[in-house]
Amino acid sequence: MAKKGFTVTDHRSGKSYDYPTVESSRGPKGVDFRSFYKDTGCFSYDPGFTSTASCKSSITFIDGEKGELRYRGTPIEKLATEHSYLETCFLLRVGRLPSEEELNHYDLELRHRSFIHEGLRNLFDAFPQEAHPMSTLSSAVAALSSFYYEHLEMNTEEEYREMARRIVAKMPTLAAFAYRYSKGIPFIYPDIERSFTENFLYMMRAYPGGKMHIDPEGERLIKPIEVKALDTIFTLHADHEQNASTTVVRSVASTGAHPYVAISAGISALWGRAHGGANESVIEQLKMIGSVENVDAFIAKAKDPDDPFRLMGFGHRVYKNFDPRAKILKSLQDQLKEELDMDNNLMRIAARIEEIALSDDYFVSRKLYPNIDFYSGVILTALGIPRSMFTPIFVIGRTIGWVTQWIEFKKDAEQKIVRPRQIYVGP
Ligand code: SDX
Repeated sequence: MAKKGFTVTDHRSGKSYDYPTVESSRGPKGVDFRSFYKDTGCFSYDPGFTSTASCKSSITFIDGEKGELRYRGTPIEKLATEHSYLETCFLLRVGRLPSEEELNHYDLELRHRSFIHEGLRNLFDAFPQEAHPMSTLSSAVAALSSFYYEHLEMNTEEEYREMARRIVAKMPTLAAFAYRYSKGIPFIYPDIERSFTENFLYMMRAYPGGKMHIDPEGERLIKPIEVKALDTIFTLHADHEQNASTTVVRSVASTGAHPYVAISAGISALWGRAHGGANESVIEQLKMIGSVENVDAFIAKAKDPDDPFRLMGFGHRVYKNFDPRAKILKSLQDQLKEELDMDNNLMRIAARIEEIALSDDYFVSRKLYPNIDFYSGVILTALGIPRSMFTPIFVIGRTIGWVTQWIEFKKDAEQKIVRPRQIYVGP
């Protein structure tokens, strides 16, 4: 009978070992290597896990070759253009889009949980004022575990739901507090009469006492187009299967630690410029390049194997085509050009980089395309968001993904504590 799965032959002994496939509903299948070390006395070697599946998951699907992204089977293009971020959060957590009644109830649940314990508010005073908001945010989220210690042990669906609602609802408040602290201005508490996304802009921009400055010509401090743009940005960042920070969240979940310290670890991992920190680095890089005339010189640096310089916002471990989120942000940027004060110089530099990179063989041969971070920075800048808050905004969007992945890990009977091995090359 034809053998199933895969056979590995150890040519030193001539022995062969069979390994069953792990079926997928879409995308690559797996090879079940769990007994490989016991069978062969050898480890599989895969630094960066480029060919390794750490789990089975039904949350997010990515097809890197096609540049396709789906949350619970729904294409990101549909969610970003036809649905709100809160609908996307419900979809990720529950597995389907909410009814209008369910959405209103979820919205109210989050509004009521957006407040922070006063004790946690004092944590910020321990930081130097120039502390990067990502350091205060990751610390505040870790500290949150001591205010909701009961989430260390959860058994019922309602307990999981409550833990998830709290962290999703409080992240914008903590991020806004981190920003206000870095500016030395009084914190603005959540306003439960405002939607999730508008409330974040309100907590970032309102004057002390919560007054919204109404300009003489009636121009409100927060325009509806800004709320819609930021809401779309949150949706695009909501989840992305087993990326570096999600892998960290799952690894911390595997030791039995509190869910909020797992998410705090995810925030720390996301901060790196190779990951979520790239959005802040992209703008720094565009400003450093300074003008379209300088682009060619920096492209040459990016291509030089001896030069560690990399084009921030380019390349992706999975996407070997345009990042679909980048495409959506690019069209959003074009829509906003009239409405918001976009930095045309930065956009011209970005457009020139993209034009060269999409034709230059160095990038084409390595399938390096703009990723989500390449475009988000220009839009966030146009929304008046300071660069230091770009990655905290990524955190706000991604929190629903992290907590959903954390819960899926906890419910996966095949999972156990993460403990990879090594190839020892020491003395
Ligand atoms: C995010 O994983 C996720 O899903 C992440 C994310 C999410 O939603 O969670 O999508 C969000 O983190 C997007 C990525 C943001 N990071 C950046 O934009 C930083 C710049 N990009 C690179 O550092 C890099 O492309 C990575 C980290 C994104 C991917 O790295 P890989 O898959 O490990 O690729 P690699 O380092 O093996 O590079 C392959 C080749 C190398 O050249 P050779 O050694 O083959 O000659 O491509 C080159 C690299 O030097 N290369 C680049 C480059 N990225 C890769 N060369 C110049 N500029 C770049 N940006």
